[in-house]
Amino acid sequence: MSRTGSLLITGANGGIGLETVRQLVHMENGPQHIFACCEELDNIKDLQQIQDSSQDCLIHIIKLDVTDIDVIHKVRDQVQSIVKENGLNTLINNAGINTHRNFDDLTAETMLLEYNVMVVGTMLMIKAFLPLIKTAAERSTIKGMAWNKAAILNTSSKFGSISLNRGIHMSYAASKAALNHLTTSVSIHVKDFGILCTVLHPGWVKTNMGGQDAPVDVEDSVKGLLEVYRKLDIESTGRFIDFQGIEIPW
Ligand SMILES: NC(=O)c1ccc[n+]([C@@H]2O[C@H](COP(=O)([O-])OP(=O)(O)OC[C@H]3O[C@@H](n4cnc5c(N)ncnc54)[C@H](OP(=O)(O)O)[C@@H]3O)[C@@H](O)[C@H]2O)c1
Repeated sequence: MSRTGSLLITGANGGIGLETVRQLVHMENGPQHIFACCEELDNIKDLQQIQDSSQDCLIHIIKLDVTDIDVIHKVRDQVQSIVKENGLNTLINNAGINTHRNFDDLTAETMLLEYNVMVVGTMLMIKAFLPLIKTAAERSTIKGMAWNKAAILNTSSKFGSISLNRGIHMSYAASKAALNHLTTSVSIHVKDFGILCTVLHPGWVKTNMGGQDAPVDVEDSVKGLLEVYRKLDIESTGRFIDFQGIEIPW
């Protein structure tokens, strides 16, 4: 099993982020370096266990709040010092927050909280890491676009679809819709550099956010997402796709 390349994921201490790291470690030809970024480092036992048992994949556990630009720049420099001239192949913007607000209890504070993490945070991450991803695109011998060549993969939600709107989780949905729009804008901006940029829906998943009534286990969601990642190509850039590979209408 030969591992090459590097991947950074935010929100890696739990839920879909943690499971993504777990499955990437076992993926054939998976990344050699995984930068597993967590908002706080006080609840990372599961992540540390994966790190301890990982043999040929190097997991770097890093504290990163996606809303803190100074921290993002420090982490970017840290990642740069490890990947050097190879750049960063894959950025997964997974961190998210859902205040579960509907019309009657919406406030400016909760709307801004969600927007700040999922839209502003994603934009700050992309802007900071784009030079490293461009380097990876230039260095790679892989033709066309691929998730493990140079890619920005944003984790969205079906709630962000305007045409499928059910009028619930209002502020979360509005932020995910904005994230979807941001993704299409960035996909246009980075296309000529050979960088893939896609937005993905993981399903309704049993995590802290999704709750125990969710129909999809986190293992199945991530297994599906990784299969979808592997199939992404130039046709997928700027698209909205779920964990089963089904395209979601905007
Ligand atoms: N579960 C679902 O049904 C579902 C459905 C559609 C989309 N999604 C999306 O999938 C992604 C992962 O969600 P999940 O279900 O795995 O939920 P989760 O278990 O609540 O995980 C969310 C992760 O985001 C992190 N995070 C929140 N704010 C952050 C910040 N400012 N900086 C860095 N990290 C931050 C959390 O860290 P802490 O633990 O420190 O708070 C946590 O690690 C999210 O983008 C979510 O919107 C989930």
